[in-house]
Amino acid sequence: MKKNLSFLYVGFLLIGMLFLAACGTNETKDSSENNGSESEGNSESAEKKVLQVGTEATFAPFEYMEKGEIVGFDADLLKAVMKEAGLDYEFKNVGWEAMLASVQGEDLDFGVAGITINDKRKESYDFSVPYFQSTHVIVFNEGENITSAADLEGIKVGVQTGTTGADAAEKVLGENNKNISKYETQALAFMALKNGDVSAVVTDNVVAAEYVKNNPDAGVEMITDEASFESEYYGFMFPKGSEYKEEISEALATVIDNGTYQEIYKEWFGNDADIDALKKAAE
Ligand code: ARG
Repeated sequence: MKKNLSFLYVGFLLIGMLFLAACGTNETKDSSENNGSESEGNSESAEKKVLQVGTEATFAPFEYMEKGEIVGFDADLLKAVMKEAGLDYEFKNVGWEAMLASVQGEDLDFGVAGITINDKRKESYDFSVPYFQSTHVIVFNEGENITSAADLEGIKVGVQTGTTGADAAEKVLGENNKNISKYETQALAFMALKNGDVSAVVTDNVVAAEYVKNNPDAGVEMITDEASFESEYYGFMFPKGSEYKEEISEALATVIDNGTYQEIYKEWFGNDADIDALKKAAE
């Protein structure tokens, strides 16, 4: 009898917990919408959209796959921003060019992938405030005599298709230079360097540094060339006229302002971010 009662007790407890859990989710989901009306349940599920965010996750330390999950500085930043904005989202590794097309076609709500803000892209997309400063570097096999961008002339150069690294290489070597090989992912460009299919890769400095650090036996080094490669900034990329851009960009600015960005930055890069420079770039 005693036993039966304790089962009953546990049963009630469980039901109670489920009930509380259900209330809990309701509360966080419709904090701004809750008007206490009967139809609340329906309108809530219709309104609480899960935003689709695309990336190309071979771009460590910004986004890369680990145990089937997209991790990296961008992943953590995105999480903090969406928490600040109070929006649900799904972060998906769809590939670089597919992401560009899907954001433009509004099949994705936005893209976060170390995406450079530039005038050309601004014709087709809207951007958030800038969140990371970057420039290009040349990664090359040891023994190659490369001291500036001009030394890329006459050697095989690998880039990721449709990136500003590809633009930078073309600026130096000419647009349809057949020595430039374009790869679908950043990982494939580095692989080509390893295989000897190309002798150098032009890509974003922090990603290159991470590759060099993680591949101590690959026999590669890197240089930058400030005269040839410009400074650029990453931003979240939205379809033109996106209804979410303002809200999410504001949340990003808040996260940059309130110290959260600094925390995430320190975790990934070990030093302090130059917040003032970022804010200046946003003006
Ligand atoms: N910053 C460069 C660009 O916007 C490269 C970005 C590549 N990102 C990536 N996840 N593979 O063109």
